[in-house]
Amino acid sequence: MDDIDVILQDKRLRLLQQPLSPIFTASTGALLLGVYRLWTVFALPGFRKVPVNLKVPFLPSGKTQTQNVMKLLRGRRGCLVDLGSGDGRLVFAASHVGLRCTGYEINFILTTSAQVRAWWRGVPPSSASFVSRDFWKTDLSDYNNVTAFLAPGVMDVLGEKLLKELPDEARVIACRFPFPDWPCSASEGQGLDQVWAYDMGAVRGCLLRTPMPLPKAETQC
Ligand SMILES: C[S@@+](CC[C@H](N)C(=O)[O-])C[C@H]1O[C@@H](n2cnc3c(N)ncnc32)[C@H](O)[C@@H]1O
Repeated sequence: MDDIDVILQDKRLRLLQQPLSPIFTASTGALLLGVYRLWTVFALPGFRKVPVNLKVPFLPSGKTQTQNVMKLLRGRRGCLVDLGSGDGRLVFAASHVGLRCTGYEINFILTTSAQVRAWWRGVPPSSASFVSRDFWKTDLSDYNNVTAFLAPGVMDVLGEKLLKELPDEARVIACRFPFPDWPCSASEGQGLDQVWAYDMGAVRGCLLRTPMPLPKAETQC
């Protein structure tokens, strides 16, 4: 091996073996923490109070998904709530067909942007309003139409809340992630744009008829 190769190899070895300077490690850590804090301030305000397993980030409904939701809302009347309304696109679409819509959104930047957009478009608050609020802590019994584009991990818990609070005549539209054990009344679209409609009366009827599986010890008797 040439001398120069030996020197380079030796240098590389020494670099690999050298422990990182504590100052370098500390400043890199502080920088990453700062970037993360900044990101949480803008992207996830309000989220600190939501349990980890119920956190859902902002991802707007696409055009096709929104159209699919509107197909399943055809002929519906009354009040609609969008759980996690983001920039307000589902609320605006539903208010267009005469539903009185409310969007609950935990990220106040998104709520404010939806409010400004409503004002800019001249949509009155009686048609579309946006509230900075955690929907998990909000009673939903006044709504007979619900839209939810959330995450697979929260659908079970959401199902329990809606079963407790919604009236029988309510229709729930789940976007992209269906309720695991609920029978759907209708569905539109495919793949990432698929949406499902659930009529609460039918869901309750079906869940009551379906016997709950007994715990193992009891089934063995
Ligand atoms: C996947 S996005 C859907 C946005 C909008 N509904 C749409 O279809 O375009 C989910 C939204 O729910 C909001 N969110 C998550 N948890 C929430 C909570 N507990 N209360 C209110 N909003 C929440 C998020 O900030 C995010 O904007």
